[in-house]
Amino acid sequence: MLTRTSLFLIAAVMVLSATAEEQRIQVDLPPMMQEHMMGNMRDHLVTLQMITQLLASQQYDQAADAAEQRLGMSSLELHGASHLGKFMPEAMNAIGTKMHHAASRFAITARNAAVDGGLEMAFGALSEVMQQCVACHAGYKVHK
Ligand code: HEC
Repeated sequence: MLTRTSLFLIAAVMVLSATAEEQRIQVDLPPMMQEHMMGNMRDHLVTLQMITQLLASQQYDQAADAAEQRLGMSSLELHGASHLGKFMPEAMNAIGTKMHHAASRFAITARNAAVDGGLEMAFGALSEVMQQCVACHAGYKVHK
């Protein structure tokens, strides 16, 4: 449950990040790479939306498949990760790798949730995937 204090903290962080000076590191990518990466990003968001919808209707295996195929370790080829990774600073690349690992862990947790009804565990694991989206977006940008 979100307490009044935690809601306040979330609001405070949102205001701070909206007004703080630009501190993200600029990453310059060749235009085609940038386009490709932003296409991946939009697919990531669609996938998160699918996953939450599938969890809401207790379709755990489908949620696991979407996560593994489109965000997890099995998605590296789909996203051209090895190619893109070369253009990223090492620490940024590492966040991307963490995200893929977290998505594969989520897939396992979601499959288990089908058996033992662990929806809370599944959402916990999904939140760990999203932490990597947040971490990378807080640290890096490609648009000038
Ligand atoms: C390794 C770094 C990294 C990770 C991980 C990452 N992103 Fe991004 N994402 C970026 C960068 C950099 C941009 C461009 C931001 C800018 O230049 O202002 C971006 C942009 C986006 C955009 C805008 C796309 C567009 O068309 O402009 C969306 C949507 C997005 N990310 C979703 C996600 C979601 C959802 C996740 C997690 C599942 C995620 N991203 C994980 C780095 C990352």
